[in-house]
Amino acid sequence: MTVRSIAVLGAGIMGRGIAYVSALGGFQTVVQDTSAPALEKMSDDLSAMLERGVATGKVDDAAAIAARGRLSTARSLEDAVRDADLVIEAVPEDIGLKVGVFAALDRAARPSAILASNTSSLSVTEMAAATSRPRQVVGMHFFNPVPRMKLLEVVRALETGDETIATACAVGEQMGKECVVVRESPGFVTTRINALIGNEAFTMLQEGVASARDIDRALKLGLNHPMGPFELMDLVGLDTRLSILRFLHRTLGEKFRPCPLMEQYVAAGRLGRKTGRGVYDYSES
Ligand SMILES: NC(=O)c1ccc[n+]([C@@H]2O[C@H](COP(=O)([O-])OP(=O)(O)OC[C@H]3O[C@@H](n4cnc5c(N)ncnc54)[C@H](O)[C@@H]3O)[C@@H](O)[C@H]2O)c1
Repeated sequence: MTVRSIAVLGAGIMGRGIAYVSALGGFQTVVQDTSAPALEKMSDDLSAMLERGVATGKVDDAAAIAARGRLSTARSLEDAVRDADLVIEAVPEDIGLKVGVFAALDRAARPSAILASNTSSLSVTEMAAATSRPRQVVGMHFFNPVPRMKLLEVVRALETGDETIATACAVGEQMGKECVVVRESPGFVTTRINALIGNEAFTMLQEGVASARDIDRALKLGLNHPMGPFELMDLVGLDTRLSILRFLHRTLGEKFRPCPLMEQYVAAGRLGRKTGRGVYDYSES
């Protein structure tokens, strides 16, 4: 199937990034959000991102102008998806919310449209079950920040058709991504491995194996990780990481039991950059 137009639901951190790579990739792109301020902020942010892209030589002038021309916004889901060949859902990580959105999408989108979710851990099969087209439902897991991260994890739910997987990969490539296809399983590949690394780093901190700074330095200098595990957890949010670990512990078993020190940090409100303190202190910056 050839995709020409894409609707993105949710204009948050991820929706914004997906809209950016979609418009630059040549797709007509409409973004919908239930919050008017979020939509407004997204339009400003996208203009700023395109300007920065031109200023740093990553995007040429003509491509930025063309991308801006392909971007539009919509307040209602129905208006956003009416003409879309592909819908990418990027609303908050809440299964009840996502299932409701997929049921509404199934009613409003063209029968031929593919419906994708950007979930980082939840069951795409459960979302597909809310529709009458489970063969056309797929996971398209982008990474933050979307313009910079090369990977697209394409998630095959129980009934996803081969043609849907092929289309999701072709769209990802046109957006400049490299695709890895994974069978649906809790945390897919990346979230599952990352959760273990972060939890193990916390266990080492709790045991006094090394300081947080030195654990971060060791992984950066010795294993070539671009960020240390604590730097990354502070960026993502310790509460988010803890809720993913609890989900993986429930679904995959004992090796994902959250480290007690991480539980304690979250209980203390040390959630990372967003609260000014996580593993590190950001109150001065
Ligand atoms: N933040 C990350 O690093 C990251 C990385 C990969 C995947 N994800 C996944 O992407 C999804 C979105 O995450 P985010 O970080 O962009 O969230 P976010 O909170 O920044 O943005 C979510 C947006 O969705 C809007 N929204 C809420 N309900 C809606 C609805 N019914 N219809 C339309 N819009 C609605 C909100 O107003 C908000 O603007 C989640 O499933 C998350 O797990 C996030």
